[in-house]
Amino acid sequence: MKPINVGLLGIGTVGGGTFGVLARNRDEIERRAGRGIRITRVADKDLARARALVESATPAGEPPAVVCDDAFAVVRDPDVDIVVELIGGYGIAKDLVLEAIAHGKHVVTANKALLALHGNEIFGAAQARGVMVAFEAAVGGGIPIIKALREGLTANRIEWIAGIINGTSNFILSEMRDKGLAFDTVLAQAQKLGYAEADPTFDIEGIDAGHKLTIMSAIAFGVPMRFERAYTEGITRLTAEDIRYAEELGYRIKLLGITRRVGEGESAGIELRVHPTLVPASRLIANVEGVMNAVLVKGDAVGQTMYYGAGAGSEPTASAVVADLVDITRLATVDPENRVPHLAFQPDRISSVPVLPIADIESAYYLRMRVQDRPGVLADITRVLADRTISIDAMVQKEPAAGESEADIILLTHRTIERNMDAAIASIEALATVSGRVTRLRLEEL
Ligand code: HSE
Repeated sequence: MKPINVGLLGIGTVGGGTFGVLARNRDEIERRAGRGIRITRVADKDLARARALVESATPAGEPPAVVCDDAFAVVRDPDVDIVVELIGGYGIAKDLVLEAIAHGKHVVTANKALLALHGNEIFGAAQARGVMVAFEAAVGGGIPIIKALREGLTANRIEWIAGIINGTSNFILSEMRDKGLAFDTVLAQAQKLGYAEADPTFDIEGIDAGHKLTIMSAIAFGVPMRFERAYTEGITRLTAEDIRYAEELGYRIKLLGITRRVGEGESAGIELRVHPTLVPASRLIANVEGVMNAVLVKGDAVGQTMYYGAGAGSEPTASAVVADLVDITRLATVDPENRVPHLAFQPDRISSVPVLPIADIESAYYLRMRVQDRPGVLADITRVLADRTISIDAMVQKEPAAGESEADIILLTHRTIERNMDAAIASIEALATVSGRVTRLRLEEL
């Protein structure tokens, strides 16, 4: 059978890796897919660099891919069967993906931002045109988490997902904790190593993780992509003290993306939130360090399963891109009725259960506050919490530094509704003996 022809849009880190993996594992990939997979066209703005990359990556004896700088020519080329979109962002990438679909091409994309914001439109168009949009590389780089959620766990009612899904922020938190380095120093390192997004605020403000979480939530619960309803809080305001205090109490701070199904019937909702989270230091996920990613999934039948691996990088991400190419190639080599729906659930069975506002979520909390070191202060604080039926789990008071009259108090609480905690924090901040703002971090025992 003739090989499947692939048009590649954007040949950067992941595009280069995709060439490399396809060339190195060509025979094995063909045995799995049932047909050869060849990149025949490449579009990139930087023609000279793209040509040099293609030349060096093409196996001897094979015609090299034709390189151009007009991506629309590639998506409209009748000889291209699958378009791989590695441009990123939701400007031109969206137009190209929709144009490829309109031309009856299957699409493989690593573009989490595009799917989280415009996935509903894109999957609708793909459904109408009868083509596949595959996106394993969009979440967790090389970790096959989309495959696990869409296929491996279909017997389960998924209860929640908690993931470290941004390598840059995990790397920053790990380095800050291990080496006591400042936030900015570590961010610069991450950018140099090529982990960070073009706009690093996406990494450090939890937006990239929010995009990935939105995709996983949709697949896990059979709901539309609703990134605009996600709560995102990054790591920029975390201090070395919070990291240290959490350690003293037996916790690590991780930037977690959490999505959870709560309530039933009328009161059903979905939590969709990214924020720094204290996790017991003994948990496997608390020990995921550096740029690695991990996703913990709780299903009612299987219990907890965890998926761990490289969340970014050239060949790890290419591993996911090529797996999608194999899946699509198999459409032509196996029974086409055996397709997996894009969002795991049948398109006419997507539910409209709402995403809860952050005030309605339930969590345990870490609170740090600066207080005057005199009698009754602690009693006032605990009274505020008791009045709101917030139960204290642990407490540490630090001695004031030499010459100072104020001390840090760190409290861990049991679970409560965020709205209740908001009110308690406002009352604590209003106490004359408490100075400044209360630092609040959410805590999950998982
Ligand atoms: N910037 C992302 C991260 C990598 O740091 O995890 C690609 O998703």
